[in-house]
Parts: sequence; C-alpha cells; structure tokens
Amino acid sequence: MFDFVSNKVHDEARQGEALLPAETDINLYKKKFYIESYGCQMNFSDSEIVASILNEKGFGATRNYEEADLVFLNTCSIREKAEQTVRSRLHIFRQQKRIRPGMLIGVLGCMAERLKEKFLEEEKLVDMVVGPDAYRTLPLLIEEAEGGQKAVNVLLSREETYADISPVRIDSNGVTAFVSIMRGCNNMCSFCVVPFTRGRERSRDAYSIIKECEGLFENGFKEVTLLGQNVDSYYWNDEQKDETVTFAMLLEKVALINPLLRVRFSTSHPKDISEEVLQTMKKYHNICKYIHLPVQSGSTRILQLMNRTYTREWYMAKINRIREVMPECGISSDIIAGFCTETEEDHQDTLSLMEFSKYDLSYMFFYSERPGTLAARRYKDDVDEETKRRRLAEIVKLQNQISKTSNENDIGKIFEVLIEGDSKRSEEDWRGRSTQNKVVVFSKSGFDFKKGDYAMVKIESCTGGTLIGKAVGE
Ligand code: 5AD
Ligand code: SF4
Repeated sequence: MFDFVSNKVHDEARQGEALLPAETDINLYKKKFYIESYGCQMNFSDSEIVASILNEKGFGATRNYEEADLVFLNTCSIREKAEQTVRSRLHIFRQQKRIRPGMLIGVLGCMAERLKEKFLEEEKLVDMVVGPDAYRTLPLLIEEAEGGQKAVNVLLSREETYADISPVRIDSNGVTAFVSIMRGCNNMCSFCVVPFTRGRERSRDAYSIIKECEGLFENGFKEVTLLGQNVDSYYWNDEQKDETVTFAMLLEKVALINPLLRVRFSTSHPKDISEEVLQTMKKYHNICKYIHLPVQSGSTRILQLMNRTYTREWYMAKINRIREVMPECGISSDIIAGFCTETEEDHQDTLSLMEFSKYDLSYMFFYSERPGTLAARRYKDDVDEETKRRRLAEIVKLQNQISKTSNENDIGKIFEVLIEGDSKRSEEDWRGRSTQNKVVVFSKSGFDFKKGDYAMVKIESCTGGTLIGKAVGE
C-alpha cells in the first residue's frame, strides 16, 4: 500500500500485467509464451524486446498462462515488496507445472543475478534464469531447458543495447510508445540496486533510436518517451563517422522527425540535466515541457549519504533555472522516506523542499534496504518501520495538497492534449495528456476527433489527478 506509484516509474496498475497478443498471432505460432512484467518502464520495454526474440523463435504471446509452453516473469528488485510479489507468483506457476509438466518457467530481469541459485537449485522453482543483458541467448536457453537442463545466463554486458531488435508493441494504445536509449547505470546512489542488477551504463546507437522513432511515427504513433536510468548522461560515439551524439543532440534529432511527434524522456538525474537540454526543450514545441527530476531527500546530509552528489541548495537552483527557461514546465520527483540515520529535522527538510519545488506529482517510497547496495554495506537501516510509515504518510499528504493546488491553478487555461483513447469512466469522453504530462479528460461532443489527434482543451475543473475540460479547437 505504501508504494505510491504511477506511470513513469512503477505503474501500480500495470504491475504483473501480461503482454497481450495481437489478433493476427493466434494461428501464426505453434507454441505459446506468457510474460508478466514488474517494476519500472524499462522492464516493460524489455518485455517487448523479449517478445520480439520469442516471436522469431516461433512462439506467440498468450494472456493465459495455463495454456502457455513458456511462462516468464520479468522481475524487479528495487524494493523488497516487488521481490515478494514475484515469489508468490512463481509458486502459482509451479502448481500449474504439476498439471502440465512440459511447461517451462523462467525468471527474467533484475532478480535473476541475485536469486539464481535460490530459484534454480534450492527452491527448484524455475527452469530458466535470464538476466537483463542475456535475452539474445533465450532461444538457446529454451532448448537447454527443453532438454532438461537448468538454463542460466545472468552475465551483464558492457555493450548490449539490443539496438537492432524491433520491440513488438503488442500491448499498446497505438499512440504513445517507449523507446529505450540506454541501459544500466553508473551512478551508485547508495540505496539503489540497479547498478548491480542492470550493470554499467551504455548508450544505444543514435541512428537505431531515430529509425525506431521514425518507424513508430509512420505507424501512427504520436509520442515517444526516450527511456533510460539516467538519460542525461546519454553519450554515443560513432567512431567511423567521428560523430558524437549527446542527449541534447539526440532530443533534437528525434524532435526533428516530425513536429506532430511528441518527445518525452525519463529519468533525469539533477546533476546531469544540462543547460543544452533545457534550451533544446524550449526550442521545440514537440518536446514536452515535463521533467522527472527525482530529489530523493531534501536534506543535504542525507543526500550525501545517498551519494546523490548535489546539495539541497544546488537542487533548488536547478529547479529555479528550469522555471526560468520554461515557466510552464511540469516537474515531478521521487522521494524516499526514512533513509538510514534520517532525523526529524532531515524529514522536515524534505517537506520544505517539496513545497519549494511544487512538484506536480511525486512517486513516494519508504526506504527498503537492498542486499549488496552501498547503503546496506555501510549504514544501519535504523529508522523504525512506524516512523518510516508516518513520515511517508506526511510526505504523501503534502504532495496531494501540492498536486491539487497545481491542478486548480490550471483551471481556465487552454492545453494542447494528445488523445490517447476513451476516458476510463465513460466512452463519451476522451482521455489524453497535456505537454506537462497531466491527464486531461474532455467530452467527445462538438468536434470530430479520433485517437491520436491533438485537441485544444480549456480546463474547467479538476480532481486530485485529472484535469477536466472542454474542447475549444483543433
Ligand atoms: N528503497 C526505497 N526506494 C527506492 N528507490 C530506489 N531504491 C530504493 C530503495 N532501496 C526509489 C528511488 C528511485 C525510484 C525508481 O525508486 O526513489 O528514484
Ligand atoms: Fe527497473 Fe530498477 Fe526495478 Fe530493475 S530494479 S525493474 S531497473 S526499477
């Protein structure tokens, strides 16, 4: 209950979602795979790469694990709760395997490296364990597992970016898509397991990214989100052409594909988002005015223990600069309550920084110690559970107030909204998002819009998480 999450980091509604097969798949493939994904957007994006590799190998997706020949869980390690969920799912699949012994169960993603022995040898829960850089070897591993061997590949790579693999977007709204631009992370925030589960940072070939985005636009998509653990440190060097592409340059190249293709990106580390990136965002209308800029804590002392490499004041200056360059820019954050040694004063610093930053939205968590991380090795997890929960509740309460005020301030304004589909509540209303990434719902009447169109919408009212308005133009 205390993972307050949404679509940019961990979309709670999507946790455990199974990939939906395309209608044309049904008779095309002789064997079926089922894949359930957990964790961040990066992991969901990886599942699309896995699906592409499995399609090539002759497996079609199914939404029903009971009929699958291969069952995969693409796992997350970021907090303990995510790991517990995966474990209980594995036990359910195990029961199914008793009924259909030919079925193979595989664990993919971030839990693979840490728990390979446990899952394969000790608990005998799975037949395959495949780390995030080893998906190309899946066909081989499947053959090994079919032959009765325990198939494992958890090697992390310094090069793998799956640049040439076209992800199958079989579960999409046809309007917005995620495009992975880099893998891994070199930051070593002390609380974070990602550098250990996903390895060193590496950037994907810029031209393969552009090609993928062009292909999406040609297929009717209107928005791409460039994904990476730390997109601002994207850096790609083409030795043959002697060309270097930075993140600001990549953004520009993608923005230039077509003015009707919106560009978003996530996630930015405050230390790496550069003036060039801000200026590029400002220059192009189709680069969305929205930055996910996780602060983690408002206390300089805690930030230092977290190894975030900035102070409270430095972060505040960054926020000021963003607002100076793009006054209309939406900003969101990630916040951790109850990190090691956090005092009441540190906690108050977090609350006051939230008020200063006026985040439109935050993803809020209490600290969960992860084995192997710098924090687990160096510091004691000494804030008791009750205090963590109380502080988190205070952070959530404050964020709800700030989000509500931010939405109320939008009443009367007109936003360009990209229509993603019907509203969840009513087929009579459209649902889309503003450039600031806020969800906007408005009546279909009056205009002849379709999914994927842009509409000018005047905001008339709001709830905590949604703006409600009326179309006033195309
Ligand atoms: N405990 C709690 N939250 C964490 N995050 C990362 N590691 C941990 C942890 N050990 C949060 C951070 C990060 C987001 C993806 O998850 O806020 O930005
Ligand atoms: Fe994504 Fe990190 Fe979770 Fe892995 S551990 S799925 S990288 S959030």
